[in-house]
Amino acid sequence: MADKQLDVLVICGSLRKGSYNAALARTLPALAPAGLKLRPAPAFDKFPIYNHDIQDTSGFPADVKAWADAIRSADGLIIVSPEYNWSIPGGLKNAIDWVSRMKDQPFKDKPVAIQSVAGGPLGGGRVQYQWRQIMVFLEALAFTRPEVFVGMAGQKFDEKTLEFKDEPGINFIKQQLAGFEKFIRKVSGK
Ligand SMILES: Cc1cc2nc3c(=O)[nH]c(=O)nc-3n(C[C@H](O)[C@H](O)[C@H](O)COP(=O)(O)O)c2cc1C
Repeated sequence: MADKQLDVLVICGSLRKGSYNAALARTLPALAPAGLKLRPAPAFDKFPIYNHDIQDTSGFPADVKAWADAIRSADGLIIVSPEYNWSIPGGLKNAIDWVSRMKDQPFKDKPVAIQSVAGGPLGGGRVQYQWRQIMVFLEALAFTRPEVFVGMAGQKFDEKTLEFKDEPGINFIKQQLAGFEKFIRKVSGK
């Protein structure tokens, strides 16, 4: 392993307090290899709904710029997100729409790993390919395998503490994070 610890930003697609996706995101630092240092992304929930007129009249809002800067400064990203109506949650899509209009588009050439947690059995399996589609347009570098889908969330997180306690899931995630570190080093030379 190379010496430099890689800086990885974790973006959660759910805004609710008791979110399973947010709970999984909080678990990731404990499952990551020593070569990855994970940090949560700044909030995006107060961004206005994207409108080109706002961009034209007052420029990019300060919190949009801060979100983009955090992405730019990271060596890689992990998106941990629910599936909403077989698709991407609107709040996170709105945030991505904002930064996608920036000159120095922050997702360009950025390694990205994807995880999803859902209440149902498919674990967000239908949305993950939409994430990959979006990453193609943004010229991000989506990590392929192992994929991480956590289904039946109600049975895999502690009801009170929200601790993720599914052993097979934990092992999959460890494998994904180890693979993601190798992928970042391969594509970035870091
Ligand atoms: C607006 C909305 C749409 C949803 N659509 C889906 C869906 O398409 N597929 C799915 O598996 N679960 C769907 N769910 C259920 C979520 O998987 C479940 O609410 C999950 O706990 C959300 O993630 P969170 O706990 O991180 O907030 C939906 C939930 C909401 C609120």
